[in-house]
Amino acid sequence: MNIEYLEKPIREIELLSIPVEEGKQKIVKELCGIKPGKEFQGKEGETYFFPLAKGKIKRFFFIGLGKKPTPEEYRKAGGLGVKRAEILKLESCCFMVPKEQYSTEKICTTEEGAILGSFRFDRYKTKKEKETKKIKKIGFICRKKDLAELRICKITAEAQNYSREINYYPANEMTPRKLAVFAERMAKKEGLKFSLYTKGEMKKKGMGGVLAVSAGSAQEPVMIRLEYKGRGGKHIILVGKGITFDSGGISIKPSRGMDSMKYDKTGAVNTIAIMKAVANLKLPIKVTAIIPASENMPDGNATKPGDIITMYNKKTVEVLNTDAEGRLILADGVALAAEKKPDLIITMATLTGAAFAVLGTHGIPMLSTKKEYSKMMYESGIKTYERVWELPMWKEYSEMVKGEMADLKNIGSEQGYAGTITAGLFIKEFAGKNEFMHLDIATVDLMENSNEYLSKGPSGKGVRLVVEFLRRLSKR
Ligand code: BES
Ligand code: ZN
Ligand code: ZN
Repeated sequence: MNIEYLEKPIREIELLSIPVEEGKQKIVKELCGIKPGKEFQGKEGETYFFPLAKGKIKRFFFIGLGKKPTPEEYRKAGGLGVKRAEILKLESCCFMVPKEQYSTEKICTTEEGAILGSFRFDRYKTKKEKETKKIKKIGFICRKKDLAELRICKITAEAQNYSREINYYPANEMTPRKLAVFAERMAKKEGLKFSLYTKGEMKKKGMGGVLAVSAGSAQEPVMIRLEYKGRGGKHIILVGKGITFDSGGISIKPSRGMDSMKYDKTGAVNTIAIMKAVANLKLPIKVTAIIPASENMPDGNATKPGDIITMYNKKTVEVLNTDAEGRLILADGVALAAEKKPDLIITMATLTGAAFAVLGTHGIPMLSTKKEYSKMMYESGIKTYERVWELPMWKEYSEMVKGEMADLKNIGSEQGYAGTITAGLFIKEFAGKNEFMHLDIATVDLMENSNEYLSKGPSGKGVRLVVEFLRRLSKR
């Protein structure tokens, strides 16, 4: 997206969108010479369109925000402004936050909403939609001193769009190897180090978790690594779940909704997108991404319920349900991460259906071994509106994944109870003495319906959250 920052509306503007707080509607009169009546007072949900402007600005679109709006309301206004421009088949649009409302955060969140709202994916449509047009350029009228922050928000929102883009590819195209190709392409472009373990190498290393999950698939699994080394700072390793399709394996899932399991790679694509943002932002911190990628399929070679496998760190696991595959591939990834002794390991995964019972679709369940980090992640969630909520890691939950015949089992006893916690604690068994944090994004990876700035489909939620967290960490 072509983004432009202006101090004043100096050139011709096709559409100027203006978020208006309740009671501050006099801006309409100032700009258009018309005082709106009851129909527009800046209340939440109200809009006022003025198409007949005479000067440089051709059209105005006022978006009501209600009283004391949160930054999220400005994100929504950003999305609504772009949508209106598209309906009008314009190629560009511009945003202005009125002087008496203006703040750095407000113009930045408007920008986020506009960039996220402009995302379209129509790769597989042979006839491109004629009704709406893709916006090519978005302008923001802003203070000079906000340019640095606006640039950061642009990079981060574009990274989120990048995650949405590559997540859209269905499993027949996005195989584990293809995911590696995408990661490599991004790494080359952004100057990151890229490396990979093939199936053969994982066999030699004894990565039994990834091998067990991929056993029933015709597609070879991979373990992808991306490395970013900013100057100084802490070392964080992100481990993302890259299941390019989760059929459940022998413990097969019901047909209904199974297609959405092509998005079981969201942890992986988010991780790739986060690395892209980190490189662009040149954060003074060291970040490594480890991405185990595999399909989970049933066939004659597939892992069976009851099989016992040996993981990369030599722990043994009873596979009691082949649909609990995410934790098996992540366990090998985390064990590999643990060898590097980083300051923190963060796993991101569409891990459990149980997460829906915990927070619905409005939050991301989090586990963390360190209060300082969970607090920082919580605050990053508030800031980005990708909110997290910490769950306990009591020892009774760890006991629920202790195996009977082997060290561990891949589902908790008392099946169905505390599934999100036991899944995270299973993975923690592979983190050694390292600090560990886990984000279960199962409920936020996919938009079932569009909202003001995110369309239906993969959401990319979790990208802005972790980038914000890494920014905060790099400031310490
Ligand atoms: N990928 C699923 C979790 C999931 C479910 C993500 C719904 C997004 C939406 C995961 O691999 C899985 O199947 N988990 C099982 C674990 C159970 C067998 C212990 C689940 O949650 O049912
Ligand atoms: Zn599964
Ligand atoms: Zn899965």
